[in-house]
Amino acid sequence: MAVERTLSIIKPGAVARNLIGKIITRFEEEGLRIIAVRMIHLTEAQAKSFYAVHRERPFFGELVAYMMESPILALVLEGENAIARNRELMGATDPSKAMPGTIRGDFAVSVTRNTVHGSDSTETAAAEIAFFFSQADLFPRAS
Ligand code: CMP
Repeated sequence: MAVERTLSIIKPGAVARNLIGKIITRFEEEGLRIIAVRMIHLTEAQAKSFYAVHRERPFFGELVAYMMESPILALVLEGENAIARNRELMGATDPSKAMPGTIRGDFAVSVTRNTVHGSDSTETAAAEIAFFFSQADLFPRAS
């Protein structure tokens, strides 16, 4: 298995509800390494650009409005098979389908207000990490 990097976003509602620590603890207890962190309040242009793949979907406007509601925390997670492991930790996109014990199962409010985002492939992870971070922002660590 390869060491991978993936982008995680702790979304506005979760930051506003003081859930940063609880969510980061899940990553660390799983053994994923946090190698970069950035708090940012997305502009409309940034939110639209980040989620451009969804621009034709009926929920796009609601998604963009939510993502610019208040600051987010963007993180880069590193570890063996990090992309899939992070998605397992997150649980299903729709919290009504997310298992208890997953981040969304435990904290998400709705499909839009679903607490966290995580990259879904190596290609997406590379693009999403580059959206928020330069190489100099990353601090790889020996496991
Ligand atoms: P995320 O993993 O950040 O990726 C895209 C986001 O779009 C997703 O989480 C949800 O917040 C949102 N989303 C996906 N499907 C729907 C839907 N059917 N209705 C509303 N929002 C959705």
